[in-house]
Amino acid sequence: MAGSAERSLGPVILAIETSCDDTCAALVGRDGSIHAAIRSSQADLHARFGGVVPEIASRRHLELIVPVIEAALGESHVTLADVDAVAVTQGPGLIGALLVGLSTAKALAYGRGLPLVPVDHLLGHVAALRLAPLALAPPFACLLASGGHTLVLDVADYAAPVRLGGTRDDAAGEAFDKGARLLGLSDAGGAALELVARDGDPARFPFPPVLRGQDGHDLSFSGLKTALLRRVRELGGGLPEARADLAASFQAAIVGQLVERAEAALEATGRRELAVVGGVAANGALRQALGDACLRRGARLSLLPPALCVDNAAMIGAAAFAAPALTSPDYLALDAYARSPLAG
Ligand code: KG4
Ligand code: ZN
Repeated sequence: MAGSAERSLGPVILAIETSCDDTCAALVGRDGSIHAAIRSSQADLHARFGGVVPEIASRRHLELIVPVIEAALGESHVTLADVDAVAVTQGPGLIGALLVGLSTAKALAYGRGLPLVPVDHLLGHVAALRLAPLALAPPFACLLASGGHTLVLDVADYAAPVRLGGTRDDAAGEAFDKGARLLGLSDAGGAALELVARDGDPARFPFPPVLRGQDGHDLSFSGLKTALLRRVRELGGGLPEARADLAASFQAAIVGQLVERAEAALEATGRRELAVVGGVAANGALRQALGDACLRRGARLSLLPPALCVDNAAMIGAAAFAAPALTSPDYLALDAYARSPLAG
């Protein structure tokens, strides 16, 4: 039996997120308060492979999921008896990784007789804005920029954001990750590139404009990556001297495109409020540039703390309050999915 989560859920929700390489659990209150949020990253485990290895991710989630949930319960000083519902990421993501979280959520819900709320990971990123203390109320235009997705959204209702556009190829975070690797930085991806770019001159290596002058809300990042590869090859042994400038220039090209599309979204929707979510929203240069753009336009910018930009379970709990809750046996047949309907 499906019912409205807004009506039926009690005050505390246990949320689980295992869509990629972070094992996450959180306890979230009905009022948007975060009682505890634990995130165990597997980044080191995958570093030597140059990317996330799905099979390794699933196995590690299996090892971590129970200790991570126990840590979240312990930190929030509640027991499973205090939990009113279980929320879990159903997709999109790596199927094997998602199934670990989904199976755990089903077992917990079944064992305790609790409702289960399956959550779309992308709706989760947007729902992070509902959490305290920000508690952003719609309507607003929203940029979602993560490692797997880049979308421009109009949000009048947290349960049903409208997709205005999205990337035609790589996601913004993917561009940061590939850029970091081409620049010989660690596998910490965008965060590592941002760190190096801080000392660089963003004007030294101009990148070709992407989709400039084209109407619509789509984005494209694969051309930037190719242009960076060419630059790196041209520089050869001169890369270490130019690395900071090249990182800053590459970052500026990604940020420039994201800001342009965010401004276009404000223009097209007439919204006075802009929000940015997803791992790339942690980027300082992007936050600064969006702040400047909003100031120019008299719009308000809503930013999340970096821990709520990257994958986390608190956002899944926040989304659960706007999603239908399922009771047993309906949720037992739920399957994970690789692609979100919101991704277009
Ligand atoms: O939302 P997220 O944690 O996972 C996905 O749903 O994909 O986003 C991860 C992405 C990675 O590509 C990572 O390089 C990027 O977010 N990222 C950053 C920064 N921190 C994380 N990109 C640029 N600057 C950062 N500071
Ligand atoms: Zn994500």
